Amino acid sequence: MALDLTEKILHHLNKVNQVDTLDLAQLFKEDHQKVIGALKSIQANGDLVNAEPQTHKRWELSGEGKEVVEKGSHEAVVYYSLPDDGMPQSELMKASPNAKVGFSKAMSLGWVQVDKASGTPIVKKKCDTIDDTVQKNLKLIIENKDNAIPDKEKQEYKKRKLLQEIVIKSFLLTKGKEFATELKKFEADLTTEMLLNGSWKNLSFKAYNLDALGVPPEGGYLHPLLKVRTEFRQIFLEMGFSEMPTNNFVENSFWNFDALFQPQQHPARDAHDTFFISDPKLSTKFPEDYLKRVKHVHSHGGYGSQGYGYNWKLGEAQKNLLRTHTTACSARMLYQLAQQKEFKPVKYFSIDRVFRNETLDATHLAEFHQVEGVIADYNLNLGHLIGVLYEFFNKLGITQLKFKPAYNPYTEPSMEIFCYHPGLKKWIEVGNSGMFRPEMLLPMGLPNKVRVIAWGLSLERPTMVKYGYNNIRDLVGPKVDLQMVQNTPICRLDK
Ligand code: PHE
Repeated sequence: MALDLTEKILHHLNKVNQVDTLDLAQLFKEDHQKVIGALKSIQANGDLVNAEPQTHKRWELSGEGKEVVEKGSHEAVVYYSLPDDGMPQSELMKASPNAKVGFSKAMSLGWVQVDKASGTPIVKKKCDTIDDTVQKNLKLIIENKDNAIPDKEKQEYKKRKLLQEIVIKSFLLTKGKEFATELKKFEADLTTEMLLNGSWKNLSFKAYNLDALGVPPEGGYLHPLLKVRTEFRQIFLEMGFSEMPTNNFVENSFWNFDALFQPQQHPARDAHDTFFISDPKLSTKFPEDYLKRVKHVHSHGGYGSQGYGYNWKLGEAQKNLLRTHTTACSARMLYQLAQQKEFKPVKYFSIDRVFRNETLDATHLAEFHQVEGVIADYNLNLGHLIGVLYEFFNKLGITQLKFKPAYNPYTEPSMEIFCYHPGLKKWIEVGNSGMFRPEMLLPMGLPNKVRVIAWGLSLERPTMVKYGYNNIRDLVGPKVDLQMVQNTPICRLDK
């Protein structure tokens, strides 16, 4: 039976007592990496061999160096291209790709000269014969006689990028304590039979390789956004939040805007900012009583508010659209909560897609994902919101936060959230938050003292920061590299 590589190595070592893996590769006509692989298998089998790491330096020709071996040095090429009566310098420069270097070398070697007598510089040969030592020396490299080339020359050729020095690592092998010419056979499995007949006591078992990489899954791969979504979801669940249903991309203006006390003339309700749906254009089913209260709070106020004092129109509220924020879902959930017999405090979250009619650029797409958290309880205040945000962002590994007063039609007070990014060394805006207005909550029927704090952020922003993308189009859309999707590691936001 033919010996396999591990056995060939052991047999050879048995004869010579000491051998370098590079020599083995040459002897067995095998790739050096294969010999190293076989060595690893031998080492996994016990103390059969000692392997001392070695480094060898070797000179190797670059592509340009190989060309010199074939055609002569650039200076020789220049010299030989000159006819006896010379050639205009400008023409010579075009004669070969490396003419410029060759010309200046040939000048300093005294092989050529420039005659300017006629007005146009003419390059002429200055000697009858030349000795192309560069070519001769480089040929020695091919013949494995690099020791014959003086060190100074080798360094110069290296500078001229004709030669490069490469480092090769190998192992010097000697016999180890448990040297043998064959590998022990290890059992890979403990079987019922071995246990029953007691043979396991005398068998050697293969050690677990806990560093072995798993087999890459052949099936689907999760997109980075989904990986980051899983992390956010985990954080919310750890904090006791439950997920809201968000399975309707199509919403109507009533829940997306009116329920949130966003006036009907608000610029966000313009077709420039929102995708309206043409078919079906309008929604028809609304909770009638609630709709009346919303209409009233917009046009006349109530609950201690003056309202906006305009003529609220059902037709505007009926318009269907692609939801512009997941706060529309939060509004539906809070309305349902208010319809329960007895109010119970809740913590809700959602992570899903929203749509805005944006001008597309490196950081904006017309659709993105929002991460939203909502807490409803008696007597909550801004301190609770700030506290929860610290807790939430802490779990993302973000410890430094700053808040800036902001405006949302549905929250008062409202705060933009900034965090310090130690990697980027700057404060970046990460989200928006606030306490839902009484004009939004009271028409729903929530008890008077119930306060609702909420915040929202995009999923794309932290994903881009986490995985180092500057252009959102590398992450989402038709230009996405599927290999990137396969290669992105799992996400741990706090690491
Ligand atoms: N809906 C807001 C947005 O689209 C985010 C937000 C959610 C703000 C909840 C305050 C409260 O930016």
